[in-house]
Amino acid sequence: MTILVTGATGNLGRALMPALHARGLDARGLSRTAPGHAHGNLLTGEGLPAALSGVDLVIHAATDGRRDVAAAEQLLRAMAPDQRLLYVSIVGVDRVPLPYYRQKLAIEHLVRARGGSILRATQFHELVFGVARALTAAPIGLYPSCDVQPVAVGEVAERLADLAGSPGPVYEDMGGPEVRSARDLFAAFLRATGRRRPLVPVRLPGRIFGGFRSGGHLTPEHATGTLTWESYLEARLSG
Ligand SMILES: NC(=O)c1ccc[n+]([C@@H]2O[C@H](COP(=O)([O-])OP(=O)(O)OC[C@H]3O[C@@H](n4cnc5c(N)ncnc54)[C@H](OP(=O)(O)O)[C@@H]3O)[C@@H](O)[C@H]2O)c1
Repeated sequence: MTILVTGATGNLGRALMPALHARGLDARGLSRTAPGHAHGNLLTGEGLPAALSGVDLVIHAATDGRRDVAAAEQLLRAMAPDQRLLYVSIVGVDRVPLPYYRQKLAIEHLVRARGGSILRATQFHELVFGVARALTAAPIGLYPSCDVQPVAVGEVAERLADLAGSPGPVYEDMGGPEVRSARDLFAAFLRATGRRRPLVPVRLPGRIFGGFRSGGHLTPEHATGTLTWESYLEARLSG
């Protein structure tokens, strides 16, 4: 089986490529600029026919955060009807009305309509780490007043690589091992980085924050990831 991975140079894609190769699968990446991958641009369509040539499955993990529906439409137009599709989405895109999530939900509809599979994941540790670092940079730290279920990107990559062998369609949610308050996660981040800060909750009005507050982005019933936040912090900060 030959696989094309869009977003192969991204956080998830960098873990996914070796996971596919470790299973003996013939996987190539797509990138606008990075050497060692098939050259292509999902927005312009440039390079897609050559990148898709001989491909049985596309794992679509590319995102630019803003024009993802147009990119997905371009990809789907370029794919042959018998080429399978596995899309990486986010838990709760149908429950939290964040503009980025709305894009992903629209793409999910396109993927389902053509018989493709979808793996939704919760927030990657790297994303939570970046938010924690930004919101605790000042002498008084902030935290969003909601829960989070961070998951290891490597474990999401392994699950995608498993699903590559499934004829589908499969719709699956995957979350990290623990649902924790953001305050708890940020306090652990401060401890691990050896800093002290008072932490002040931020609670915003509106439906988007309300969606996060009510846990729309969580999937405690699919807590199949195993790497905890503390283990992630230890590995990341000791490197
Ligand atoms: N971050 C999270 O917490 C999280 C959680 C759950 C699900 N997800 C989903 O997981 C997927 C991967 O996320 P990520 O964090 O790994 O993303 P990322 O690190 O931002 O990487 C995105 C990749 O998309 C590629 N890309 C962007 N625009 C492109 C275009 N026009 N044509 C071709 N390639 C393009 C880029 O490759 P080049 O620059 O090399 O072209 C880049 O490597 C996304 O669908 C995201 O929504 C993320």
